[in-house]
Amino acid sequence: MTVSAPPIIIIAIDGGAASGKSTSSKVLAERFHLLHVDTGSFYRGVTAEFLRLGVSATDAPVVVAAAAALRFGTKLHGRSAQMEIGGRVVPDAEIRSRIVNENVSHFAAIPEVRAALLAYQRGQVDVARAHHFRGVVMEGRDIGSVIFPDADFRFFLHADPTERARRRANEGGHDSIAERDRIDSTRKTAPLSCPVGAVSIDTTHLTAAQVVETLAAPVSARLAAR
Ligand code: DC
Repeated sequence: MTVSAPPIIIIAIDGGAASGKSTSSKVLAERFHLLHVDTGSFYRGVTAEFLRLGVSATDAPVVVAAAAALRFGTKLHGRSAQMEIGGRVVPDAEIRSRIVNENVSHFAAIPEVRAALLAYQRGQVDVARAHHFRGVVMEGRDIGSVIFPDADFRFFLHADPTERARRRANEGGHDSIAERDRIDSTRKTAPLSCPVGAVSIDTTHLTAAQVVETLAAPVSARLAAR
């Protein structure tokens, strides 16, 4: 008799910049033995690569050709998936740089760039299986709406803009999050918005630990019932 592997759990966490996604996804990954996938880092990696190649977000045909030529791989860093482009991991310092902050939303608004990343993002489930994780916790802007609309859990985090700016400043980031959110929320393809049926959580007055417990509770309950 063959014993089939338990189904992979998928947790989708969407929200604007500094809404609390990253901290809570990392803790959930640890607690439930999940692969942590920060899709914002993927858009940042692609942006850093385009900038390195001298590609401008305003030059659509060049962006489309450059996007089609990207070759992705995945390397594990602890529980987190790190994107490789052409066999190279784009260093964190590069993807969190001011120039990438300023450009990433413009590249992310281009449908061909999103299309180039779609299969790669879905493919993280195979990476999780190959490394014997119990599932995936994926954070981004369109995870519960486009990448995994059938995810086991879909959360949408939001917070007051002043509080989010304070959090980002505390992290030492140079980031115009209000401007990025404006571009991310108003683009035509996969705009940032709470997907229908997702659980929306206002994190403004919650500590990081309270956000984690709010997200973890239904996951624990479901796993206990299995
Ligand atoms: O999560 P982050 O702030 O590092 O994301 C950087 C940018 O990437 C964000 O401004 C919009 C884009 N992004 C996206 O369009 N879709 C995703 N699933 C994740 C990020």
